[in-house]
Amino acid sequence: MSTTSAPPASTPAPATPLDLDNIQGDLLSGLPKKTQTYFFFAITNVAKFRHHLHKLVPYIKTVAGVLKDRDAIDHHKKNKHPGLVPMTGVNISFSHKGFVKLGIDDSSLAPLGDEDPFKTGQQVDAVTNLGDPKKSDGKPDWDSHFLEDIHGLILISGESHLSVEKKELEIELLFGVHTLEASIKKIIAIRGDVRPGAESGHEHFGFLDGISNPAIIGFDKNPDPGPVPVQPGVLLTGQNGDNKADGTPNTRAPWATDGSFLAFRYLFQQVPEFDEFLKKNPIAKDGNGNVLTPEAGSDLLGARMVGRWKSGAPIDLAPFKDDPVLAADPKRNNDFFFQGEINSQLRCPFAAHVRKTNPRNDLEAPPSGIAPIPIESRRIMRRGIQFGPELTKHENTSGKTEHGRGLLFACYQSSIPNGFQFLQQSWANNDKFPPFETQPEDPGLDPLIGQGVRAMSGLDPLAEQKVLAMPQFIIPKGGEYFFAPSIKGLKDTI
Ligand code: HEM
Repeated sequence: MSTTSAPPASTPAPATPLDLDNIQGDLLSGLPKKTQTYFFFAITNVAKFRHHLHKLVPYIKTVAGVLKDRDAIDHHKKNKHPGLVPMTGVNISFSHKGFVKLGIDDSSLAPLGDEDPFKTGQQVDAVTNLGDPKKSDGKPDWDSHFLEDIHGLILISGESHLSVEKKELEIELLFGVHTLEASIKKIIAIRGDVRPGAESGHEHFGFLDGISNPAIIGFDKNPDPGPVPVQPGVLLTGQNGDNKADGTPNTRAPWATDGSFLAFRYLFQQVPEFDEFLKKNPIAKDGNGNVLTPEAGSDLLGARMVGRWKSGAPIDLAPFKDDPVLAADPKRNNDFFFQGEINSQLRCPFAAHVRKTNPRNDLEAPPSGIAPIPIESRRIMRRGIQFGPELTKHENTSGKTEHGRGLLFACYQSSIPNGFQFLQQSWANNDKFPPFETQPEDPGLDPLIGQGVRAMSGLDPLAEQKVLAMPQFIIPKGGEYFFAPSIKGLKDTI
C-alpha cells in the first residue's frame, strides 16, 4: 500500500516572498475574532463610493496587521493582564455585480466566461450546480436579502460587541449611510459570535471546528504534521499555483494579484433534529464488536458522520472511542491519511464530512490500477463563525428548532470552480464519491452539507454496506461569491 508522506518540518519559500502588507488579513491569517459582522451592501453612487473607499483603505487589516495583533495578544497573556486586548479588523470584497457597477473589467476573474460561477453569481449557481432547494419561480429558497443584487461585503471582526458595533457605525458614517451623501445601501448585516464557555471553537452541532486548513508555502513556516502544504496560488490569485482545472496557470489582470475569492454561505443548522437523529440511531457495537451503551452509540454515530469526535479527535486515529488528549495535540490531530482504509470504511466512512471534503490519501495514493488525482487545487481556507442563540431547554426537549442558528460559512481560494463549488457539487452532493469499485455500496452524500437524496453507508463499522437515510440538517439560506482584492488593487484600480 502506498502512503502520502508527511510534509517536511519546514516548507520551502515561494520564488517571490509574499507581500504581507498587500494581502487582506482574513485570507492568510484569519482576522482575530470573538465576534464578527458580515455587512452586505449595494453601491448606490459610484463616484462617491470611490471617494469613500479611498478613506476606508487605511482601516483594512492586512496579514502583517493581524500578525502584529497576535504579538499584542501574546504579550497581554504573558504579562497576565486581565480581559481581552481591544482590537478590530476590517476587510472588504466585491461580487461580480459590484465590479460591473464600478465599471471594472473583471473578466480575468472569470476564466470560464458566462459559465463561471463568479460571473453568474451564487444565486444562479445555487440552483444550477449546488443543489439548493428551489422555489416555484426557479430562484433558490433563500432569505430575501440574498435575492437582492449584492455588490460587496465588509467584514468587521473584534474582541467585543462594543468594539465591532462602534467600528460598524464609523464605517456607516464613512459611506454616508442614512444621509444624502450615501454611496452604499446596507442590504443586511449579520452578526456571528464564537460560542460561549466550553463550546468556544465548536460549531452548533457541538464539534470542534477550524482544525484542518491548508498550510501555505512561504507563510506557514513550520506547519504541524498533516496534509502536504500547498502553493500560495491555491489561495492567492496571480501566485504560483493559481491554476485552471487542467493545471495550466490562470492569467489574471495585474490588479488582481494577491487577491482571493471568498465563497460565503448562510447555513442554518437544525440542531435539535440532528441530536434526535443521533439518539434514535445509536450504533450497537463498535468495530471490535464491543456492545455500546445507547449514549456511546449515538456519540459514535455523530463522530462517524463528521469524521471527528466532538473533541476534534479524528476517528481515523481514534476510531471507536474519543481521545481528548489526541484532540488537544496539534502535532497529531491532523496527521492522518486514511491509510489502510482505502476501499474500507471500518474506521472512517467514505462520506464522513471531513473525508468527503478532504479525501487525503484516497485520491492521492489510491489502490493500484486507479490513477492518483492531485487534490492540491481543491483545498480551501475556511473562516466563518457561528450565528444564533444557544439551544433553549424547550428546543432540547421538543427536538424541534425554534430559533435560527448556524454557520456564516466563508472560505477563500484562488478559483471558485476548483474550490468551494467543486467540493459542494462534485464531492459532497455526489453519492458515488470516492469512486472505489470494490465497495459494493455507494458512499452516499456528505451527511452534513450534501444536497440530494440524503443517505450514506459506512456508519455501522460492522455492517459497512448498511445505508442510513437522513433528513437535511443544514439548510442554505443565502450566499454570494466575492473577490477580496489586494491593498494595491483597492488603491490603484477600484
Ligand atoms: C471540516 C463542520 C460546512 C468543508 C469540518 C469539521 C467540522 C465541520 C466539525 C471538522 C473540523 C476541522 O477539520 O476543521 C461543518 C458545519 C458546516 C460545514 C457544521 C455547515 C454548517 C462546510 C462546507 C464546506 C466544508 C459548506 C465546503 C463545501 C470542510 C473542509 C473541512 C471541514 C474542507 C476540513 C477537512 C479536512 O481537511 O480534514 N467541517 N462544516 N464544510 N469542512 Fe465543514
